[in-house]
Amino acid sequence: MAEIGRRQFLRGGALATAGAAAVAVSGPEARAAVAPARVAYPANRLANIADLTVNEPLDVAYPDDDAPGVLLKLGHPVEGGVGPEGDVVGFSTICPHKGYPLFYNAEDRTLNCPGHFSRFDPEAGGQQVWGQATQNLPQYVLRVDDDGEIHAEGVDELLYGRLSNVL
Ligand code: FES
Repeated sequence: MAEIGRRQFLRGGALATAGAAAVAVSGPEARAAVAPARVAYPANRLANIADLTVNEPLDVAYPDDDAPGVLLKLGHPVEGGVGPEGDVVGFSTICPHKGYPLFYNAEDRTLNCPGHFSRFDPEAGGQQVWGQATQNLPQYVLRVDDDGEIHAEGVDELLYGRLSNVL
């Protein structure tokens, strides 16, 4: 367990659950049983690679305008990173504890909460490194196309205050 991340473990669990459902019921019934767990995210263009500077946050919003977030180019490959160097990541900037807006500290490269001082590591998939929250920071699933356009196509955790990430 120590060798795999929490998210990787949870993904494995989700796949195992989906697989078990598919084995228990076959055919159209199986598809119907698994389908409700899937969420269709919008594929939104957030920025272009050329818009980013190493260690300078770029404000964005995803999956809608009421969900503030940030793109970060970290200068070296990181978990979930995209682009030529695998160093571009995106996160919600709403604290998963009680919804305060997070700010980026470029000195120690963390996203920080002024509410109760939780800190999240964008170089480690948004892992909480200190504080009150009970989940890590939601990270965007990103894709970069041939023109350098950065598209968000999903979020790996539930955004604060929502019953679903897609309305
Ligand atoms: S709202 Fe961020 S730590 Fe409480």
